[in-house]
Formats: sequence, C-alpha cells, structure tokens
Amino acid sequence: MSGTTLSMTPRQEETAMSSLLVADQVTKSFGDRQVLKSVSFDIAPGEIGVLIGKSGSGKSTLLRIFAGLEEPDDGNIFVRGKQVVEDGEYTDEWDGAISDVGMIFQHYTLWPHMTVFENLALAPRHVLRESKKSIMERAKQALAEVGMEHHLNSRSPQLSGGERQRVAIARALMMRPKVLLCDEITSALDPPVAAEVLGVITKLKEEEGIGAVLVTHDMAFASKAADKVLFFEEGVVAEEGPPSAIFGNPQTPGLKKFVDAVRF
Ligand SMILES: Nc1ncnc2c1ncn2[C@@H]1O[C@H](COP(=O)(O)OP(=O)(O)OP(=O)(O)O)[C@@H](O)[C@H]1O
Ligand SMILES: [Mg+2]
Repeated sequence: MSGTTLSMTPRQEETAMSSLLVADQVTKSFGDRQVLKSVSFDIAPGEIGVLIGKSGSGKSTLLRIFAGLEEPDDGNIFVRGKQVVEDGEYTDEWDGAISDVGMIFQHYTLWPHMTVFENLALAPRHVLRESKKSIMERAKQALAEVGMEHHLNSRSPQLSGGERQRVAIARALMMRPKVLLCDEITSALDPPVAAEVLGVITKLKEEEGIGAVLVTHDMAFASKAADKVLFFEEGVVAEEGPPSAIFGNPQTPGLKKFVDAVRF
C-alpha cells in the first residue's frame, strides 16, 4: 500500500487491504457548510452496502467522491487495497484504480441519439482504446448479464425505464468494475421493475463477487438488497448493521425517528 496512514490501527489497515472500498474519515464542505464530517466505512468483495439518510445528508456527495466527480477535503480512500486518496489528495494510484469503480445515476444517462451498442462502446473505445471487435464481444456479454441482449441496436427512447437502467448497468460493466455505486437508480421505476433491476445487482454480486454501494429512499428495497445498511446523519455514519437490526432495532434517536417516518 502506498502512503500508509498514521491514524490507522493495524486492524484498520488490514481492512483497507482486504476490502473493495474503504472510506476513512472522509470530509467535505461546500462553502461554510460541512456536509461530510468524518465518514468511515468499508465494503467487502461481494457485499452490498445500502446508504440511507435524510435528503441533503450527503449521500450523493459521498458517491460522487468515490467516483472522482467531487474532491474530498480530507480523509483517505482505498480501492482494492490501493490508497487512491491520502489526506484529501489523490495519489498516483488513482488512475489505475478508478476503472474498478462504476457509477450509475438516478436519471438515465444514455445518449438518445446513439444505439445501445454505441453507448456501451464509448468509454472502452476512448478510455481503454480497446479494439472494436473486442468491444462488440464484451458489449454482447454485458447486455446478456442484464437480460438485454436483444437490444444491441435499440436507441434509448425506444426502451422502458427499467430497460434503460439495465443498459446503464451494462455500460458500467464494460469498464470491468469491481464495485458499483448506484445513486437512486430505481427511484423512477415501478416496484416490479425496480425489483428486476435489483435482481441484476444481486446476480452480479453472487456470480461475479461485485460489491456495491446503493443509495435509496426505498426502505423495502434497502432491506431486501443490503448485506449492510449505513445510516447517514449529520455528516457521519451514525449507525450501521444488517437490515434486520437497523430497521428492527434502531439504537440512535436519529435512526429511530427516521425508521418511524419511513416505516414500510
Ligand atoms: N456542488 C455543490 N455545491 C454546493 N452545495 C452542494 C453541492 N453538491 C451538494 N451540495 C449540498 O450538499 C448537501 C448534500 O447534498 P447531497 O446531494 O449529497 O445529499 P443527498 O443525501 O444525496 O440528498 P438526496 O437524498 O436529496 O439526494 C446539500 O445541502 C446540497 O445542497
Ligand atoms: Mg442524492
């Protein structure tokens, strides 16, 4: 590991090495508002962590930091044992590790004027400089993984919301990520369609050992999908545990109130 961080105990260091994704005391302010005060957690291979918390609590900001779309102010981030952020600064490991992280957003971000294949080919062609033949093979594979193999030449306006999100997952898979960051990817979908999309994520976890961090306001979804639920409050992970404990036996006053308000 590059730049071992002095604040970590040997046990924390071991976790950083064996986990897919580790946040260690990550902070972020916008102006004078500190949105992330000190966020720490880890995601193991094949583990799905679900992030819940009030609107504005910083869930999207954290995912955006993991994906490199937002810079943290301080803290450490590890991706598969490589320290990609040290004391708030990107390290030399960042470029090599960032393709291990795939991000999928709430609103379908497929280009409508391009076919599904062209959308999938964009990053591998321009970022990885992969050959067309190999991209085609992998695009077929990725679409098969999400049950969309017959839509190689469709354009997104012809697809339903659930189909578009499945294509968005396939597009993320083209970069061969080890961990998927999903920001409210099912919030615009009907429950049965959301369940289908969730099925894709759990299949990837079971078959490929992919880990995921899912942000959702849907507590039924959270409780079905999660190996671990992380409750975000006041810029920290205030409570974490398996869904049964988080929803069935919340400990902190903030989580009790949250669970009462969203009881499903
Ligand atoms: N680029 C930015 N500039 C200034 N403030 C920002 C920026 N991005 C986010 N914020 C603020 O940071 C806070 C956290 O936002 P964030 O989007 O992370 O919350 P969230 O937990 O994802 O909320 P929601 O559940 O509504 O999606 C909000 O108060 C938001 O206004
Ligand atoms: Mg958000």
